[in-house]
Amino acid sequence: MTGRLDGKVALVTGAASGIGAAHVRVFAANGAKVVAADIQDDKGQALIREIADKGGEAVYVRLDVAQEREWLGAVAEAVRRFGKLTTLINNAGIANTQGVEAETLAGFNRVVSVDQTAVWLGMKAAIPEMRKAGGGAIVNISSVFGIIGSPGFIAYHGAKGAVRLMTKAAALEYAKQGIRVNSIHPGIIDTPIIGDSKITREAVEQFKLATPLGRMGRPEEIAHGSLFLCSDEASFITGAELVIDGGWTAQ
Ligand SMILES: NC(=O)c1ccc[n+]([C@@H]2O[C@H](COP(=O)([O-])OP(=O)(O)OC[C@H]3O[C@@H](n4cnc5c(N)ncnc54)[C@H](O)[C@@H]3O)[C@@H](O)[C@H]2O)c1
Repeated sequence: MTGRLDGKVALVTGAASGIGAAHVRVFAANGAKVVAADIQDDKGQALIREIADKGGEAVYVRLDVAQEREWLGAVAEAVRRFGKLTTLINNAGIANTQGVEAETLAGFNRVVSVDQTAVWLGMKAAIPEMRKAGGGAIVNISSVFGIIGSPGFIAYHGAKGAVRLMTKAAALEYAKQGIRVNSIHPGIIDTPIIGDSKITREAVEQFKLATPLGRMGRPEEIAHGSLFLCSDEASFITGAELVIDGGWTAQ
């Protein structure tokens, strides 16, 4: 296979489902070698078989993104299998639906550890290998909820807002080393996270109504944004935030 990511080796977190799985498919189809990382081993392995059947190159690694030691293992595995690491998609995430008073300290800390702290851990683990590779590209998956507020998602908003600014801070810190760092802000996308986070059917309908294009997005519509940002076509783009939300935040 040849494509816009020829020569790249990409580590994708939360790769077994939804937006992460779409990244694995789109990146492999465009010539990247992909390390798909998740905690859902069966789904991750099945995805790797699908990629191999289509002629792509991908491996699965188990990685709980909230555990620093597991990050070191995943990055080492990428280098062992494919010789280098050039690209990181910090995508793994969980949502909750608790407001300020209903949220618990444990619940808040859990969301922050997976959605925010893990994004920093991923950059910290991957950047030394990107430097060795002569440069790299990182995409941190935030949310429109990292830009605008809404009632009832206090920890998620905090974490996703932090990802937006950590992205800009890291972009400035590593610009001179040829490592580009950008964030993507999806609107409402049709993935299992919607059911898992107990967002009600009514809330989903409201999100759709708030979306000028009048529908939920598809996971590959987010992966195509990352495809561009991680390709050499985006060589002058760093510290940017790409909103992919059907027009939601343009209003
Ligand atoms: N779906 C949406 O509407 C939407 C909107 C904005 C942002 N996002 C963001 O997109 C990203 C992907 O979400 P999705 O919609 O594809 O959800 P999803 O639930 O389909 O996928 C999330 C994946 O992350 C994995 N994951 C969870 N905790 C993990 C951990 N500790 N370590 C490793 N992997 C872990 C899960 O196993 C799952 O495979 C998340 O960061 C989410 O916040 C989603």
